[in-house]
Amino acid sequence: MIRIALAALIIISACGRQSAGPDPIPEINAEDVVSGYSFLTAETQALQDDDFANPGFLWVDRGERLFESTQGVSQSCSSCHSDGLVGAAATFPKIDPASGALINLEGRINMCRKDHQQADQLPYTSDELLSLTSYTAHQSRGMPINVDTIGQAAKHLSAGEDYFFTRRGQFNLSCAQCHNQSWGQKLRGDTISQGHGNGFPAYRFEWQSMGSLHQRLRDCDTGIRAEPLPYGDQTYVDVELYLAARAAGLKLESPAVRR
Ligand code: HEC
Ligand code: HEC
Repeated sequence: MIRIALAALIIISACGRQSAGPDPIPEINAEDVVSGYSFLTAETQALQDDDFANPGFLWVDRGERLFESTQGVSQSCSSCHSDGLVGAAATFPKIDPASGALINLEGRINMCRKDHQQADQLPYTSDELLSLTSYTAHQSRGMPINVDTIGQAAKHLSAGEDYFFTRRGQFNLSCAQCHNQSWGQKLRGDTISQGHGNGFPAYRFEWQSMGSLHQRLRDCDTGIRAEPLPYGDQTYVDVELYLAARAAGLKLESPAVRR
């Protein structure tokens, strides 16, 4: 059953190979856009919905403690952000006006550590960065994704879109073939969702941990036997922007729970 589904995808992939140029895979109709939450079992949905049982809250709570604690030049995040950062996560990735670079939430947090706290940058996969990101993202839970895609962001949007529609890896599959064309179908015991990032950072049973969106993207690239990009890679940040734009209006869910 599982193998049949993967074989079907590879056949889709092989059929398209004769045609030159980008795959004619349509985007998801705006009225059909749904969160990965819709594809979860009732038990997993219930776990995500219960703030006391949802394991992601361990990272949210740890993030809150870090946010309040003194780092670097004896300043806490909260000494500057005394009203918290409600709504901020829904607007990332965004252009940093000073450098003109597109940065995601992890990048912004590390920028504050470096520029405002004179503290060390946190490694992308560190529990501290994951906790601070989870705490910040959680403050936007229930708010619609609202990213800027014009001006300097436009070229990043199109780079992210290119990555999404480009076939890669030994299976020669694009993100779009699974998440635009095959959502709702089964693959290795998962139901393929539309591939939105609105639940991240998310707790995954497979990780036994909270993880970033980049960790999820690396898993998807690895799944098709493609070389995953490094954590924090600019192309993954561009993909993040494209994912946010194609999910515009979907509500943030972090800490989501996923299989
Ligand atoms: C000394 C003051 C200061 C400290 C300390 C500080 N920040 Fe900031 N932060 C800022 C300022 C100012 C901005 C607005 C952008 C800018 O000018 O750099 C900002 C922007 C942000 C944003 C983006 C908000 C948005 O709506 O785009 C996030 C997220 C953020 N900070 C998180 C943090 C976290 C997490 C910490 C602790 C690790 C922290 N900041 C520490 C001053 C600070
Ligand atoms: C072979 C099919 C396949 C390909 C190709 C693929 N994915 Fe996935 N992806 C999955 C499966 C299966 C899951 C886990 C179930 C789900 O949420 O869809 C997943 C999950 C995700 C999620 C998390 C969704 C959620 O709500 O938790 C995102 C985001 C995502 N993929 C983005 C991408 C991107 C971007 C690419 C291209 C770089 C990609 N995927 C390529 C199969 C694929």
